[in-house]
Amino acid sequence: MTNSALPAQFDILIIGSGAAGLTLALKTADFARVAVLSKGELSQGATFYAQGGIAAVLDSEDSIEAHVADTLNAGVGLCHPEVVEQIVEHSAEAVSWLVDQGVPFTTVDGGAVYANQKTSAANPPKLSDLHLTKEGGHSHRRIIHATDATGKAVFETLKNRALAHPNIHLLEAYTAVDLITKKGEAGNTICVGAYVLNQSNETVELVSSKFVALATGGASKAYLYTSNPDGASGDGIAMAWRAGCSVANLEFNQFHPTCLYHPHAKSFLITEALRGEGATLELPDGSRFMPRFDSREELAPRDIVARAIDHEMKRLGCDCVYLNITHKPAEFIKEHFPTIYTRCLEFGIDITRDRIPVVPAAHYTCGGVVVNQRGMTDIMNLYAIGETSFTGLHGANRMASNSLLECFVIAFAAAQDIANRFEATPLEVDLPAWDASRVVDSDDEILVSHNWDELRRCMWDFVGIVRNDERLIRAKKRINLLQEEIIDYYRRHRVTNDLLELRNLVLVSSLIIDSALSRKESRGLHFTQDYPDLAAQAADTHLFPHPSQPAAAK
Ligand code: FAD
Ligand code: SIN
Repeated sequence: MTNSALPAQFDILIIGSGAAGLTLALKTADFARVAVLSKGELSQGATFYAQGGIAAVLDSEDSIEAHVADTLNAGVGLCHPEVVEQIVEHSAEAVSWLVDQGVPFTTVDGGAVYANQKTSAANPPKLSDLHLTKEGGHSHRRIIHATDATGKAVFETLKNRALAHPNIHLLEAYTAVDLITKKGEAGNTICVGAYVLNQSNETVELVSSKFVALATGGASKAYLYTSNPDGASGDGIAMAWRAGCSVANLEFNQFHPTCLYHPHAKSFLITEALRGEGATLELPDGSRFMPRFDSREELAPRDIVARAIDHEMKRLGCDCVYLNITHKPAEFIKEHFPTIYTRCLEFGIDITRDRIPVVPAAHYTCGGVVVNQRGMTDIMNLYAIGETSFTGLHGANRMASNSLLECFVIAFAAAQDIANRFEATPLEVDLPAWDASRVVDSDDEILVSHNWDELRRCMWDFVGIVRNDERLIRAKKRINLLQEEIIDYYRRHRVTNDLLELRNLVLVSSLIIDSALSRKESRGLHFTQDYPDLAAQAADTHLFPHPSQPAAAK
């Protein structure tokens, strides 16, 4: 692992070190020289923070058909059925691969639940031994997990595997700035590398590669309150858009219903698995409210639960609602949810005895860079995998724990596609260096930090859980103005990580608003007071950087 001396050429440049990026690296490194970049520490993607788990059909009572049906149902008519089938059909294979890598999943043995340490690569569990929990929208227990810290277990295992592979270069503190493309003989656009900011010496370096994969995660940082880490600034979506890729369904921002509400708790999620194990949502007076909103009560899909909480908080003028699992034995709670138990205790909340104050927060970007079932974007040799992509799996609302699953299955398919095309794809070496001759050092950081705050507050206030045209148009005007200022500043100053993130986030925010304005109905995560009903026809929102651009052949 290094943050200096970036070699100028790789076979595959993977931008992002989360579940998607690390999986693609491990699946390609036996035939290719691979670089995996992270703009912060390798762990600083959403993957590390994932709690609940990975949805997969392992139980004999469960079926592929049931998982597919649940996903389609949560997605409210917008999921692409062939993609849902592909991903669900490969769910057991994905879990099996993770078990082989050594991910210490929680197991059951004769009814006893074993947290993590019981299993390892040397002592792998049988798939039938894995403990399954439940989350919203799922009709069966099908969430494989490592207690309540699944993402950390997956990340650490895959990172250690990647560190041990001689063909994988893990590079921290490198921020991809933009993709490099050229025109092909057929008039198509081909990706041949990327410009990358080396944060240690503050220079932008050129990396050529046969293939580039965007695995940069989502854009939930566009909102003031989010469950996501700081780097979720939509960089991959913005880079792909600037390079000429289409994007889809960016209006569908998922708000997770239950993030810890505490003045000193930044972005701490309270996993849906708590509700899966029986926790109830309550108003300040102790009464439950979900039964009034949906027959599935606390385990309704997330859009419904988040909207119900938002509605009740506005109706009562309260700052939060409460999640209550105190009816379960203390030992059960500590065994199943050790991370949440410990973290809440740090804030003086003993979840075995106290209710947990919770609020919804931006959590997941359902839309993204349009890709096919192999992760290929509109641009040749450019792939997008994981949360940054739009495969069609999630429709208008992602079902819990389908995201990590998508990272693995589409990374597998992308790896196979790259393998098939590897020998026939040349490496371009004669590319133009980054031109920093007309910029000066950033001299006014307050402009950057002020714009961050203004942008995120504007998105939270006007493009949040409940929308209307007046709010969206107001947001559009403000975001346009911010975008002009940020682009002007970017053109005149040497780039920094913060400036790059801001430039990306303002672009993605404007795409979110354009998408939201063009959807004249309420569906899934997009609820607008002006069009409260479902339209007769379900259709994706596609945006193209060049208006005349046709959709790429898939
Ligand atoms: P990430 O894991 O977000 O990784 C992004 C990577 O890209 C990082 O390494 C980052 O440094 C890098 N990067 C970004 N921009 C640049 C750039 N310009 N240059 C260089 N590097 C860059 N999903 C589930 O299925 N189950 C769960 O239980 C679950 N729980 C969650 C809990 C929390 C708190 C959160 C936030 C999300 C959760 N999700 C869950 C969603 C899921 O974790 C994410 O969708 C998934 O991990 C995304 O993985 P990824 O590989 O696409 O991106
Ligand atoms: C959670 O654990 O509640 C998050 C699961 C997810 O986002 O899929």
